[in-house]
Amino acid sequence: MATLDRRALLKGAAATGIVAGLATSTLARSAVAGDPDRSDAEIYGVPTADPLIEQRADPFITRRTGGMYYFTGSVPEYDRLVVRGAPTIAGLAAAAETVVWRRPASGKMGGHIWAPELHRIDGRWYIYFAAGDSDDVFRIRMYVLESPLPDPRDPAGWTLRGQIATEWDSFSLDATTFAHRGRRYLVWAQSEPEIAVNSSLYIARMDTPWSIATKPVRLTTPTRSWEIQGFRVNEGPAAIVRNGRVFLTFSASATDARYCMGLLTADAGADLLDRACWAKTPDPVFVTDERTRRYGPGHNTFTVAEDGVTDVLVYHARDYRDITGDPLYDPNRHTRVQKLYWHRDGTPLFGVPVGEGGPIVRLSPVDARDAYVRHEEGALRVQRDVRELASSQFRFVAAAAGDGTETIQSVDLPDRYVAVVGGTVRLDPVETAFHRVRGAGGVALRLAADPERYLLHDQGRLTVGSPGGARGRFLLS
Ligand code: AHR
Repeated sequence: MATLDRRALLKGAAATGIVAGLATSTLARSAVAGDPDRSDAEIYGVPTADPLIEQRADPFITRRTGGMYYFTGSVPEYDRLVVRGAPTIAGLAAAAETVVWRRPASGKMGGHIWAPELHRIDGRWYIYFAAGDSDDVFRIRMYVLESPLPDPRDPAGWTLRGQIATEWDSFSLDATTFAHRGRRYLVWAQSEPEIAVNSSLYIARMDTPWSIATKPVRLTTPTRSWEIQGFRVNEGPAAIVRNGRVFLTFSASATDARYCMGLLTADAGADLLDRACWAKTPDPVFVTDERTRRYGPGHNTFTVAEDGVTDVLVYHARDYRDITGDPLYDPNRHTRVQKLYWHRDGTPLFGVPVGEGGPIVRLSPVDARDAYVRHEEGALRVQRDVRELASSQFRFVAAAAGDGTETIQSVDLPDRYVAVVGGTVRLDPVETAFHRVRGAGGVALRLAADPERYLLHDQGRLTVGSPGGARGRFLLS
């Protein structure tokens, strides 16, 4: 699993100008930030097909295993388990889908089939999923399938290991498992007797891939306003270990546009079974965005892109707010992926569900390599400590003229662009076209309408003027 050291190396390499040496010796050229030859797609490093897969909710993509990514997720019929495989994340979109298990026509496990996850443990594949019964489709309990075969798409390998029993025989779902410092953990959602909510999140250590060895510890229960919209729900946990911490995302509220994601954080050296070691971020970290038209983002997981470094956020969301009938039976929670960024302090930056468009970049003036161009109330600033990730995300879009020039579109305000209006540089509906002039020291952005003038960094602001050395060149990341 890649670590921050490598990320810091990449960023540091770009910032200290030793890019060339690293690019030819130890770092894959396409992975080095600031390399002017990299395409925006290489810089962003994550597919931009959006959705990646239609009508697959609760999406799960494995880390690359044996050169393959494997996908599974909930199907709208909630009646079967499916697996896809491809050498790339983008390839999952068109990959053939195999049904590896179907619910029985009646009886136990004959109800709703929800939110499978695919894990490789000690040389075997396991699918963790939730199933109801045919006489009560919402009598949801957690189950595990196991396959010894190398390809999880082969239905012949799968056998039921059984139900994951916990402290209570109650509504339990969304199991995820992760190994950390020699121990394997299970995190899941359950309805605990005497706790007046629909589901809370629990953690336990596992002694086998299908059983827990310790009493459940309740990590979080829905209490905040963003967690109790429609239903009082904490569910869909996903773990990622980075920068000396264990981060657990989870989803909250009803599965409509109010669905959103929260975050728990523990020190990597902590006793993960000690509830006091976990801190819950007070506000949601990933929510509906009217401007990018992505609603109810959540039930996420994480994977790593083909470069072995770029973390990928995998989640579902709809592209409309209003739903007719029960959201649970609206089929259009599509699978989506986007880059997961990290702040300088090692915490994850989720930004917004980015919506339709091509690869995303951030711009750092060469004379302020650890700062980013961002918009703030229509003005464009160059700042170091950007916590509002989306305000610093842009897309280079081919200008309508088709002459090779590009506009610079805001990701979170898609109807706004980096614009030069009356000599002032600001975020504006006006689509100003630039020529992107690539060079060893970064990219210069020359005004298409006035080839003598370039975009310049000027003491934390942007301006235009004659080409001006480092303040007129930008690193893209
Ligand atoms: O998508 C089916 C269920 O709906 C998932 O298990 C849960 O996370 C969500 O509420």
